[in-house]
Amino acid sequence: MRATPMHSAHLVLASPMQLANCLTEIGRQASRLAFLLLCTLVLASVIGCGATPPAYFRPNMVESTKQRLNPEQERQVATVLLAMFGTPDHPVALAETGLNEAKLHLAAGPVRSDIVGRKNGLYREHCAHCHGITGDGLGPTAAFLNPYPRDYRPGVFKFKSTERADKPTQADLVRILHNGIAGTSMPSFALLSETKIEALAEYVKYLTIRGETELTLIRAFFELDDDAKGTLPETREFLVEETLTPIAAKWQAAPAAAIPVPPIPANIDLVASIAKGRELFYGDKANCVKCHGVTGLGDGQANDYDDWNKVIVEADKEIRSGTEQASQASTAGMSPEQLADHRLQLVWLEKFHQVLDGDALTPRTIPPRNLRQGIYRGGRRPLDLYYRIYAGINGAPMPAAKGTVPPEDIWHIVNYVRSLPYEFDGELGADRPMVAPNRF
Ligand code: HEC
Ligand code: HEC
Repeated sequence: MRATPMHSAHLVLASPMQLANCLTEIGRQASRLAFLLLCTLVLASVIGCGATPPAYFRPNMVESTKQRLNPEQERQVATVLLAMFGTPDHPVALAETGLNEAKLHLAAGPVRSDIVGRKNGLYREHCAHCHGITGDGLGPTAAFLNPYPRDYRPGVFKFKSTERADKPTQADLVRILHNGIAGTSMPSFALLSETKIEALAEYVKYLTIRGETELTLIRAFFELDDDAKGTLPETREFLVEETLTPIAAKWQAAPAAAIPVPPIPANIDLVASIAKGRELFYGDKANCVKCHGVTGLGDGQANDYDDWNKVIVEADKEIRSGTEQASQASTAGMSPEQLADHRLQLVWLEKFHQVLDGDALTPRTIPPRNLRQGIYRGGRRPLDLYYRIYAGINGAPMPAAKGTVPPEDIWHIVNYVRSLPYEFDGELGADRPMVAPNRF
């Protein structure tokens, strides 16, 4: 290695001049270090050593901006929610929610062990990085996943044993946590004890009841009388009886909303049943072919959005058309009131734009399932497929066959769907290629 002048200064005895320079440099470094240390100490005494701020629930900014709430109204919603539901570290469950607070405490809060060594904070340990502390589906990992983790706040669940618009039962939630959701990033938590799974299911219910209450409150401003002066009544009658109770009641009614399942026809001839199911699949009553495609590969109509993404797509459209209109409007002939309205509209458009940037994921379409893979998100038992086909998938474009196909015939469609991953290639013929041009 070639010695640089710098190296030689250290190797050869330094001249007094060099030594002096070197000492001044060391002094300078030392005083810089001391200064940094001082800054760190001052900062630490102000914000506390290593203390992280307590976790908080993020407000539903997309909805409150869409409903044009002013900051005062946003604050009122936050205050009311705090009183009714507490915080992520200290959840509160009013009796009307029907929730079990002991279970919530096991799932809530930071990850820690209690006095007998029992692990608490299960939701933050296992779920929050995807579903977010608030259950808004905006955890740090969410943007990288497809499909996105579920946003529980609208109270819509997909894979359940109840009628389409109804809530899942406790057993449905527990089954999802046991099995995970095949074909998505939602993992199975089968290794957790039953107590922990039950606690997590309870906490999901807590987050979703809270989220639906928030949505209801935000939308309630719209119906206020003028003499209410833009604030919601903070009475028990309005907050608990009119708002919370109907939301909680839907959860309590779930077990009674079970889908009636007729027995599988006795002595069923599987070959004939599959043929009948196939006819229904391609027929115009069930019309499965419209979305799942003539190939069953899911390459039919694929440009639709699920309910969660639709909200963002529609907000985006509203902003675009609003901005276009505002930019075309001539302010020259406007009265002072019109001018004030115009300015307010511009401020709102800008705020909505920023909210979508920070509080929403880039919308994605929902492709109909490729039925030749044999991967079923809601479970692969014939019964699970019966539920999916009978009631459709809540929140997704997949419609209910209920009403167009008699319940016993749905078993034939189930049999056909279950045969699809194994259907003999040659049967499809030239007009139904097994391999669609845009797949594989
Ligand atoms: C790695 C990311 C990830 C983790 C961790 C995760 N989930 Fe999910 N979860 C998802 C995704 C993605 C979906 C949506 C799947 C879909 O829509 O098909 C989902 C959906 C759900 C659903 C909705 C089921 C339905 O029927 O609609 C529930 C409930 C749920 N998760 C609960 C949990 C709980 C509780 C935990 C923690 C114990 C958890 N998840 C951990 C990614 C995750
Ligand atoms: C309007 C479009 C559309 C029609 C019509 C349609 N589906 Fe679907 N289907 C979808 C979409 C979209 C999904 C994916 C939903 C999701 O991921 O949440 C899906 C998913 C499925 C699944 C997967 C369920 C699971 O657990 O993963 C099955 C099975 C299925 N459809 C069968 C059918 C059958 C049988 C019919 C006819 C009776 C039908 N679909 C009609 C759009 C449709």
